[in-house]
Amino acid sequence: MGEIRVFCPATVANVSCGFDVLGLALEAVGDEMVVRKSTVKGVKITKITGQELPLETEKNVAGVAATRLLQQLEHEGGFEMEIHKKIKPGSGIGSSAASAAGAVWGINHLLGNPFSNRDLVEFAMQGEKLASGVAHADNVAPAIFGGFTLVRSYEPLDIIPIHTPKNLYATVIHPQIEVKTSDSRKILKTNISLAQGIRQWGNLGGLVAGLFTEDYQLIGRCLEDHVIEPIRSILIPKFDAIKTEVKKAGALGSGISGSGPSIFALSQGEETAKRVARTMKEIYTPTGVEFDIHVSPISLSGVRTM
Ligand code: HSE
Repeated sequence: MGEIRVFCPATVANVSCGFDVLGLALEAVGDEMVVRKSTVKGVKITKITGQELPLETEKNVAGVAATRLLQQLEHEGGFEMEIHKKIKPGSGIGSSAASAAGAVWGINHLLGNPFSNRDLVEFAMQGEKLASGVAHADNVAPAIFGGFTLVRSYEPLDIIPIHTPKNLYATVIHPQIEVKTSDSRKILKTNISLAQGIRQWGNLGGLVAGLFTEDYQLIGRCLEDHVIEPIRSILIPKFDAIKTEVKKAGALGSGISGSGPSIFALSQGEETAKRVARTMKEIYTPTGVEFDIHVSPISLSGVRTM
């Protein structure tokens, strides 16, 4: 096999209480990439559609991640990649992570899978470092493993796949304003109080327990963030209204998707997730800000061939 086409899922990082450690992959939103073997050594990006992004390997998140992988093995030839972007950069649903994850997963697949998913996350994190200045793994881990993932530790890297309840759906609204992850990290405080820590790790532990036991009400109670959300939400129009109204529409809870401006809500069942989408639309339409809304199951596979 010399060529594959892969689906690279969008992801929701943080999931409220898990800043930089928790993430989930979406089934209905993602980029597409074509990865093919080449006789020329190294990585070449031959085509990008959907967005204006650099073709130069060392300036492109997919190129950087793929190069890191190739540095770890003896390989005669190289790889070419086409990137077909459907996820807008700066949307908060893991645009750079999708490209980095697709690149390393695709190359690994064509090589006969010499690397583990954990290794692939480590390579893909180099793409995240290029994009945001920080090699965070909470988007690339779910993009590669699928489902929910927990980054238990960064040094050494320890990724824990978390069970995904069957009937869990995400609704994501993406207001068409760009928030760069690097900018929305700069506004964060570097210290938190003990009281904030206690609330946050109580919620994170509860959320993981709720996911494993498929306790939807517990999941809902844990979708709280008293550390990051109060600071970042000021950048997002109508954030508070969305949070209040989606709950009334039946959502388990909601929060900022990654570094924003997208807002995610989780619901039990597709019908509720669609009702939540209608509520989001009603709130955003009068603002004049353009937006996209996605209703999606959680992707259990992560990056996959198409
Ligand atoms: N954990 C990262 C952040 C995710 O919130 O900055 C970026 O998508």
